[in-house]
Amino acid sequence: MALLKNIRLEVMQTVEKEVDNYIDKYLIPVEQIWQPTDLLPDFQSENYIEEVQQIREEAKELGYDFWVVLVGDMVTEEALPTYESWLMDMEGVDQHGRNGWSKWIRHWTGEENRHGDVLNKYLYLSGRVNMREVEITTHHLTNDGFEVGTGRDPYRNFVYTSFQELATNISHKRVAQIAKKKKNRMLYKMCNIIAGDEMRHHLAYREFVKIILEYDPSEMMLAFADMMKKRIIMPAQNLRQSGGKMASAFDDFSNAAQRLGVYTTFDYINILERLIDYWEIPKIEKLTDEAERARDFLVRLPDRLKRIAERVTIPQDTHRFKWIEPNGML
Ligand SMILES: [Fe+2]
Ligand SMILES: [Fe+2]
Repeated sequence: MALLKNIRLEVMQTVEKEVDNYIDKYLIPVEQIWQPTDLLPDFQSENYIEEVQQIREEAKELGYDFWVVLVGDMVTEEALPTYESWLMDMEGVDQHGRNGWSKWIRHWTGEENRHGDVLNKYLYLSGRVNMREVEITTHHLTNDGFEVGTGRDPYRNFVYTSFQELATNISHKRVAQIAKKKKNRMLYKMCNIIAGDEMRHHLAYREFVKIILEYDPSEMMLAFADMMKKRIIMPAQNLRQSGGKMASAFDDFSNAAQRLGVYTTFDYINILERLIDYWEIPKIEKLTDEAERARDFLVRLPDRLKRIAERVTIPQDTHRFKWIEPNGML
């Protein structure tokens, strides 16, 4: 086990040499990238009130489940401190030595931080949600943290982030499409541009895994299979509302997302297929016996999950959330 750990560290140190190139390739320099205010009313301008009124008018066209999903998405983004501290704790990351990996994580965090920021401001201006209740949920989720089954293992972490960045790309993109259909241009632009960031992040993390597969195929394969056996748990898994128990709001939020078609079980399977395809899992050779079995498990998994997914039904009744009700009254 100690030997395996050393190999992981060596691999991390080897890949780390290229981190500056990955930052150039997959992230955008601070002064060139969009900032939340680019997409929001300019409060220094004379006609800011009209812009706010427009937001409030356009917001009226969007339905109950939509607001639930947008709040859940925003809260997920706002719990960023949880994700940053989790990544910083990965084996091979040294934030005190300011090594390459910690630089990557800080730059990634800088980009991600704008997502919750812009969505939060939009929700506040929309006048459709009870912001105090939403803030309590964000505060709870940050306090509750998450446990996604990766431990400090970078291989498992990179599987998780490859998966999750694509999941958020899909869900923000779908929210954008609904906003567009309802002629809400500002929200469409906002969610679409966030989706673009998520895609770049996904491309980076999936590349890290691809490279690790070359150096350490058996261990990387085992890490991938292990994460899929545990299932990829969503970052907002512990979502709750005021007065609720930890994780008590997650299923209702997730059902709203499924009903809207923003993020479904079939998207989960599709992401898995795309990862298997990009990492060329069926073709990977020179594996230990155990890793071969892991590869075979992974190759068969999408079909197995499809058979299960076809039998699952999503509750159709809209669940009421304190987030949406005025003054938190149900
Ligand atoms: Fe994000
Ligand atoms: Fe992300």
